[in-house]
Amino acid sequence: MTVVAIDGPAGVGKSTVARRVAAQLAVPYLDTGSMYRAVAWQALEEGLDPADGKAMGRLIARLRFELRTRNDEAEVVVDGEIPGVRLRSPRVDVATSRVAVHPAVRSWLVAKQREFAAREGAVVEGRDIGTVVFPDTPHKFYLDAPLEVRAERRLRQLAGRECGDRGRLLSEMRARDERDIGRSASPLKRDETYKLIDTSTGDAEQVADRILRSVRAAATGS
Ligand code: DC
Repeated sequence: MTVVAIDGPAGVGKSTVARRVAAQLAVPYLDTGSMYRAVAWQALEEGLDPADGKAMGRLIARLRFELRTRNDEAEVVVDGEIPGVRLRSPRVDVATSRVAVHPAVRSWLVAKQREFAAREGAVVEGRDIGTVVFPDTPHKFYLDAPLEVRAERRLRQLAGRECGDRGRLLSEMRARDERDIGRSASPLKRDETYKLIDTSTGDAEQVADRILRSVRAAATGS
């Protein structure tokens, strides 16, 4: 069973790359960020503070949370509702990085991620996939690019939707990076077991091809 871990900071192009790799390997794609986002979104819907660990603990204890596979992608269903693109607003971005610091929320979601990938393998993207969720997979990739490049990419994604100005997006992204890297529970980091790929040059297809070559080479032992 193949599990490919793709980690890296926000806006680095992980989703496009991970989707392509999953399609080529014919395994489902799991975006773990959308799971953290769904908890944050639900917290905001209920007027709860995402930074309040106790409140988040109570929230997950009563939340019906499912991962449904649709078109070979895991889709998050919360209390019977599919939040979909509502998970992608800058407001949810900020709330999610606050929700993601709580160890109880993390271990609850990590169990679901392992269960999902155990069925038929998966390409899994996130921040701690190769370090915590699947530390034993031989296929670990860390995508990286400078903050300015990532902010431009995020601005293009947000075009036509709820979109703040460039300066605000940059500072929010910097703050999110700091929270993701600096938190004590499963921080974003890479070690020597990862292959580092700079995504500031080259398109998603080239990055995906590089990952596929590496995964296939490992499988054939070459
Ligand atoms: O990848 P993303 O932008 O959708 O992630 C949203 C937030 O969730 C981000 O602040 C980091 C956090 N996250 C995490 O802590 N661990 C993961 N495995 C995935 C996302």
